[in-house]
Amino acid sequence: MKYDLRTLPTDKVLVSPSLLAADFGNLDKDIAEVTAAGADMLHLDVMDGSFVPNISFGVPVIKSIRKNSTLLFDAHLMIDHPQKYAKVFADAGADHITFHVESLDDPAAVIAAIREAGCTVGISVKPKTPASAIFPYLEMVDMVLVMTVEPGFGGQSFMEDMMPKVAEIKKEILKRGLKIQLQTDGGVDAKTSPVAAAYGSNLQVAGTAVFRHPEGMAKAVEIIHNSTAVLDSNI
Ligand code: DX5
Ligand code: ZN
Repeated sequence: MKYDLRTLPTDKVLVSPSLLAADFGNLDKDIAEVTAAGADMLHLDVMDGSFVPNISFGVPVIKSIRKNSTLLFDAHLMIDHPQKYAKVFADAGADHITFHVESLDDPAAVIAAIREAGCTVGISVKPKTPASAIFPYLEMVDMVLVMTVEPGFGGQSFMEDMMPKVAEIKKEILKRGLKIQLQTDGGVDAKTSPVAAAYGSNLQVAGTAVFRHPEGMAKAVEIIHNSTAVLDSNI
């Protein structure tokens, strides 16, 4: 059974903790803790060492954590050929797959492959890519992910200069009357989550800020859930 991202609200701040900041020697324990903490889904950063200058984890890890987790798996593919691997990640247990518009494959073909594999679809832009790059695909996706760091590593600082891009995409989503999750990823914490929310992003990816929060994961998730700021003010 797949979890359906489309059943989740787009007018509330949701949290997708990034497993990249978890303890890789105790994944099931950390996932159980973040689930109890109230995470809305689990963000899985897949890196191939070519699209980004780092290698993280892939299919076997996702397959094995799937056995013990009831969370929606939000896979973020930072890989050159998402079209080729969509089905492989869907079969491993991903419910939702986000790919990069900058990947080497044709975006429309990647979207079709992800749908065919039974997952919801997200399209992502790196910091240097303009919002307009994803506009032709807006009607075809369930999520847009705006990177607020250069992809490849956890623990980097939030790029506040990405906020106009978030606002531009939010405006376009509203203009077209679509119900799409708008996700920000990279350096999101108690301070920056309200900023992202204020510009229109309602789905916050947070690795370090959740898995390594000094007051524990439940506190971290609560803080981000409460960063509703001025979500509907259309900045
Ligand atoms: C970066 C990844 C992020 C990252 C976030 O390439 O896409 O999901 O793990 O980590 P933090 O929240 O620590 O910046
Ligand atoms: Zn990510």
